[in-house]
Amino acid sequence: MSKRGLFFCLCAVFAVYSVYVWTAGTDTPNIQPPSEQAKAGLALFQEKNCIACHQLYGLGGHMGPDLTNVASAPDKGVDYLKTFIANGTDKMPNFKFSEAEIDALAQFLVFLDRTGTYPPAHPEISWFGAVAYSGANNGK
Ligand code: HEC
Repeated sequence: MSKRGLFFCLCAVFAVYSVYVWTAGTDTPNIQPPSEQAKAGLALFQEKNCIACHQLYGLGGHMGPDLTNVASAPDKGVDYLKTFIANGTDKMPNFKFSEAEIDALAQFLVFLDRTGTYPPAHPEISWFGAVAYSGANNGK
């Protein structure tokens, strides 16, 4: 192929790929920003160092369970997690939280649950190498 032919071929490939990239859907999850209550819950989560025993997205201490999706797990949910936060257990301290503090922590965990899944959802890899996660919790 002549140099000129090659040049036009590359230009054509560039043009087609550019149109594809600019028109492809982005599919970013539509996550609402955290409420003031959820932010207060995050502050409490940090202040009481819950992460010393619990994990978020698999990172943290390993004395208690991962809390990423506790708010939506089929056999758990908001009332369930509030019971633990309000009373503690033999292994988890009772922090003597007020009702407002328990609600704030619950709202933080509900917000966290909407941000993704742990363990991570199985990724789909497109033909051009982009990775898309379409787990049950993504984009709720
Ligand atoms: C000293 C370690 C420790 C700390 C600190 C701790 N937890 Fe826990 N937590 C546990 C353990 C252990 C469990 C599992 C229940 C059990 O085995 O008694 C648990 C269970 C839970 C559960 C139920 C999870 C499930 O999937 O069943 C929630 C929700 C929870 N903790 C929230 C919190 C929050 C919020 C904080 C911080 C305010 C916190 N924990 C601080 C040890 C801890």
